[in-house]
Parts: sequence; structure tokens; C-alpha cells
Amino acid sequence: MVTTEVGDTFEVRDLSLAEEGKNLIEWAELHMPVLRKIRERFIKEKPLQDVRVGCCLHITKETAVLGQTLKAGGAKVFLCASNPLSTTDEVAAALAEEDGIHVYAWKFMDTEGYYRSISNVIKNEPHISVDDGADLVGILHKMKRGEQAPEVDIVKKVLGERIDWIDNVWAGAEETTTGVIRLRAMAADGAMLYPILATNDTPTKWDYDNYIGTGQSTIDGVLRATADLLAGKVFVVAGYGRCGRGIAMRAKGMGARRVIIVEVKPHKVLTAALEGMDVMPIKEAAKVGDIFVTATGCKNVIAREHMELMKDGAVLANSGHFNVEIEIPALEEIAVEKKEIRPLVNQYTLKDGRRIFLLADGRLVNLAAAEGHPSEVMDMSFSDQALAVEWICKNKDDLKNRGGVVIDIPKEIDNQVAQLKCEVMGLKYDLLTQEQDKYLKSWDEGT
Ligand SMILES: NC(=O)c1ccc[n+]([C@@H]2O[C@H](COP(=O)([O-])OP(=O)(O)OC[C@H]3O[C@@H](n4cnc5c(N)ncnc54)[C@H](O)[C@@H]3O)[C@@H](O)[C@H]2O)c1
Repeated sequence: MVTTEVGDTFEVRDLSLAEEGKNLIEWAELHMPVLRKIRERFIKEKPLQDVRVGCCLHITKETAVLGQTLKAGGAKVFLCASNPLSTTDEVAAALAEEDGIHVYAWKFMDTEGYYRSISNVIKNEPHISVDDGADLVGILHKMKRGEQAPEVDIVKKVLGERIDWIDNVWAGAEETTTGVIRLRAMAADGAMLYPILATNDTPTKWDYDNYIGTGQSTIDGVLRATADLLAGKVFVVAGYGRCGRGIAMRAKGMGARRVIIVEVKPHKVLTAALEGMDVMPIKEAAKVGDIFVTATGCKNVIAREHMELMKDGAVLANSGHFNVEIEIPALEEIAVEKKEIRPLVNQYTLKDGRRIFLLADGRLVNLAAAEGHPSEVMDMSFSDQALAVEWICKNKDDLKNRGGVVIDIPKEIDNQVAQLKCEVMGLKYDLLTQEQDKYLKSWDEGT
């Protein structure tokens, strides 16, 4: 049972970790020059004056820099965790000491604590939601619909019987693929009650965060948890989307003997094969893999029948949003013994003596066992988020009439972030001449 410290504006693990947290935040800030530039402008212009922003995000050092940037723009910021294992307790402690930022997050929170923290954010009646996985949006909707569910019961303990919290929300922004998929499904069902920007789906987010960021940080998580040697290993990646492709690329670069891709879409299978990866169904990969990582957004991708085929010592990890990609209840059932052999590594022993190692309870391994994406990558993702929040404030009157729709990040925001990142990285590039610009927009010039 994890104990927490509770105050009027926070619930965190241990306030005495604050000094360490401040150093971590300073480190992230140093590596987030684009967000710093946005913050400098926010300080002068105060575009978010008195706006309440509720964020359900991984509470990392980079999220702290985002929170401070929103605060610099005049916002009141309310933070809760978007995953029970992804909070950096030192960072949460540092944020708890800041005026204008409320934080409810600690590592290893249970389900009760997770939804209590979301409720504490909702209690402050945010105008804007910023989600990573749509749990905050989900609860706001479930309350309004009067749904019966165990998580709603937890929320009611904090919020009482009132159901209309969602009515104060102007709009939102969503950080990850799984969240956007859920929102699009909600919108298609006519169930979504306010407009949400799909921050995940913009090039300066998913081409770097999902691909480069998840690639590096997932390998980092697997190695920090296991201290395994990658060289010579057979590394299986389930899903060759943006995240999976990044993970496979880095596994190969770190010396894996063979990288095998498991996919369900033929064009992804082709891409993987033509990019030099092995491809096969999970049933075959299960027999030969040493390390398995899922990054699909789907469920039971590694299921009981696959685990039964695995070699002694197989390592299983997940980097997709929810802990459903590996069928953990089945692993619990087929194992005769379970023990935590290292921090965040559970050893499951099967009847015949084979051992399977599950990392971080099947939760995002890069955040649970490492520190999530490097700050340089989050510099772009969170610059998109800061500008998305500003855009919502500027367009709030129009947004009120839009209803439940998923909105693309405006191109100007994406371009601005890309330009600023090139600038801070000293990357020079060409501009189209007037003639070239005209040519690209015309259709009459040919051979
Ligand atoms: N770990 C992180 O920090 C991090 C960062 C960004 C996104 N994510 C999460 O990672 C997951 C993947 O995100 P993405 O942006 O790569 O999505 P994506 O849609 O680009 O890729 C997912 C891929 O998985 C494949 N897939 C789906 N079901 C499958 C199955 N049963 N077996 C094999 N392959 C299957 C799809 O065909 C697709 O190619 C999502 O849950 C997302 O929210 C995690």
C-alpha cells in the first residue's frame, strides 16, 4: 500500500522529494527550447489569463515544463496522472510546491487513487481538458450520462451526485493515438459532447514522439528493467505503426540479431519487409523470440496460446497505451508461481518450469521503467499542446457551437513548431522560389 501526502492543492507521494524534482524539471527545461520560446511570449501576452486547464497526462519532468508554460500564460493548471505507473514522484513533489499548479499523482497508484485524482481535477471545473488516453474526457462523459461503473462510484465519492461538470468545458486536446481512436469512435456514435483537438495526429507530434521518442525510450525501459544484452537477441515487435517502427529500428541499431514484426495490415507487413525486418504471425514469432514488445493499441495481441509456446526466459513488455496488449490474466492463470525478481520485473513460472518475465505489469514500459521520451522530443509534442490550448482560448466562442467533433491541429501550429525546432537546432533549409511555388500549384505545365 503506497502512502501519500495530501494538501489543499495536491496529493503526491512525498514532498521531501521536491528539490530533486526541481533539478529534473530544470534539466527538461534546458532541453525544451521551443517550449521556452512559447513561454517567453506567453509571459508577455498572457493568452490564457484565468483559464482553468485540466490535464490528465504522464506526470514527468517534461509535463512539468508544459504546466509551467500554461501557467506563465495566465492559466490555472490542474494535473493528474494518465497512468498508474508513469508519475515521477520527485517531479510531482516539486509541482505541489508551486502556486497556480495543482497536482494529484504518484507512482504505483491503485485504481481508487487514479480516479480520485481525476475527480480532483474535475472538481476545479476546467475550461479545457488535455488528455493522454481520454480517461478525463471519458469520466466527464460517463458522469453526464449517469453511467453505472466502478470508476464512476469512485468519482462520486469526491464529486457527489452532481453530473454536469462537462458543461463548463469549452474544448480539449488529446495526446495519444489510443485516445484519438476512442474520441473518433465517440464522435461517430454521436456520444461526444465537446470538440477536441487531435494533437497526436499532427506531424510534429507523431512523426517524432511516437516514432523517434517511443523507439528510444522503449528500448531504454526494457534495458533499465532487465539490464539484458540486446546484441544477439531475437526481438519481436507487435505493430509496425509509428511507435512499433521506431522500436524496431532502435532494436536493430542496438545489435538485435533478428527483429521480427507482427502485424495485421498488409501494407505495414510490406513496409516492414522492405525495410529489412522479418515478418511472421505471432504464433510463429512466439516460439523464437527472446524479447517481445507490443505497440498496437489493440488487446490480447500476445495471448495465452502464444505465451504457452514461448522459450524459457522470454521477456514481455508493452509500449502501447493500455495494459491490455499482453493477456496478463491468462499469464496469471497458466503460471504456478509469480515473484518480483527485480523492480518492475515479475517472473512467472509455468508448470513445466519455463519462466516468462513481464515488465512493468504490462504498462507503458518506457514511462514505468525509464523516463518516457527524451525532453527534446517532448519539446515538440508539448509545444503543440501549449499552442493548441492557446488556439482553443482564441476560438472558444466558435468552438461552443461545434459540438462533439475531433479537430485537426491547425497547420499554422504544426508549421510554427517545426520552424522553431529547426531554428533552435540550427537546421537551415531552402524556401520555394515564386516560380516553384506557382508550378506546384498549377496543372497546365507538362512534358
Ligand atoms: N509508449 C509511449 O510513450 C507511446 C507514445 C505514443 C503512442 N503510444 C501508444 O502506442 C500505441 C500505438 O501507437 P501508434 O501511434 O504506433 O499507432 P499506429 O496506429 O500508428 O500503429 C499501430 C499498429 O499496430 C497494428 N496492429 C493493430 N492491432 C494489431 C494486432 N492485433 N497485431 C499486430 N499488429 C496490430 C496496426 O495495424 C498498426 O500498424 C497506441 O496505444 C498509442 O496510444 C505510446
